[in-house]
Amino acid sequence: MAEPVQTPHAFATRIFSGIQPSGGLTLGNYLGALKRFVEKQDEGIETIYCLVDMHAITVWQDPVKLRQQTREAAAGFIAAGIDPARSILFNQSQVSAHAELAWIFNCVARMGWMGRMTQWKDKTAGQNSENASLGLFAYPALMAADILAYKATHVPVGEDQKQHLELCRDIAAKFNNDFGVNFFPITEPVIEGAATRVMSLRDGTKKMSKSDPSDQSRINLTDDADTIAKKIRKAKTDPEPLPSELDGLKDRPDARNLVNIYAALANITPAQVLADHGGAQFGSFKPALADLAVSVMGPITTEMNRLMQDTAEIDRILGEGSVRANAIARPIVDEVYDIVGMIRSRML
Ligand code: AMP
Ligand code: TRP
Repeated sequence: MAEPVQTPHAFATRIFSGIQPSGGLTLGNYLGALKRFVEKQDEGIETIYCLVDMHAITVWQDPVKLRQQTREAAAGFIAAGIDPARSILFNQSQVSAHAELAWIFNCVARMGWMGRMTQWKDKTAGQNSENASLGLFAYPALMAADILAYKATHVPVGEDQKQHLELCRDIAAKFNNDFGVNFFPITEPVIEGAATRVMSLRDGTKKMSKSDPSDQSRINLTDDADTIAKKIRKAKTDPEPLPSELDGLKDRPDARNLVNIYAALANITPAQVLADHGGAQFGSFKPALADLAVSVMGPITTEMNRLMQDTAEIDRILGEGSVRANAIARPIVDEVYDIVGMIRSRML
């Protein structure tokens, strides 16, 4: 694979990230991604956030639900603190630069790179991969296009996206080398905080996911206070009390998950949680966690439901975001066509 020829520091700091509207948002999305998207926006950095509907259809999506989930995700972003005036918020399919650059990257990336992606392997495990969509295989090239259509330098994500971001760096470096340019930045992943990997409430060794068949395994951004409290009360744990030191969580994935969730929600470190709650039984820790989760998530859910009353306004915000996104991405992708050697008569 090509060596990076460029550090991102030659490029202006610009943040890009995306979430698939393939289901409702979960506590994992909130703590691993959304909450940090808001922090970056509030630090005054240029931030571009995208609902990646074209990634969502790499597996079957009911069209009516896809539209509903895209609006709901947009409402969730705004309810969580994304300000559409300060960040660019839009859905991917409205900005054609993503699909156009993805095709170029399909021709830069190698089959072998794609075949090594663990998400591809996981999603086709136990099934006939001959039956998976071609889009699912090419997924990471579209993701690289999302990022590089804006020459984004930093991408906040959860732990599970690390490998895809390494591939994005490889694609940028190979493009730069193949064409002898310093055109694309070598983007840095931003994976930080106590909750880069929120685990299932039913199995502390599995990621909390919107696609898990068990609704008990996750907290949804749409869950009401009672549902959140019930799910936390029923979360899988072990019979031991909480330890006072992090070391004591080593072989206790379920306990560790609840401690990490508590820390992320309270903006403290897991060590601080244990300093406060070490020795406590889950019978008392779980209600404290449930109260905390309800106090943080409750206002977001209420605001999201309010915003969902006016879907025309949500569509307007996404439309406006896509105009601003297009204004950045269009000239970048036009330049890519020039670099690659495509004739641009510029009559359109
Ligand atoms: P997805 O729902 O797969 O589109 O993921 C959107 C963003 O949320 C990505 O940055 C993921 O890394 C992050 N994310 C999803 N699930 C989790 C989880 N269980 N823990 C932490 N981050 C997550
Ligand atoms: N693949 C990411 C996920 O499932 C979503 C995504 C698509 C993304 N394009 C992106 C994340 C660009 C960061 C940057 O979580």
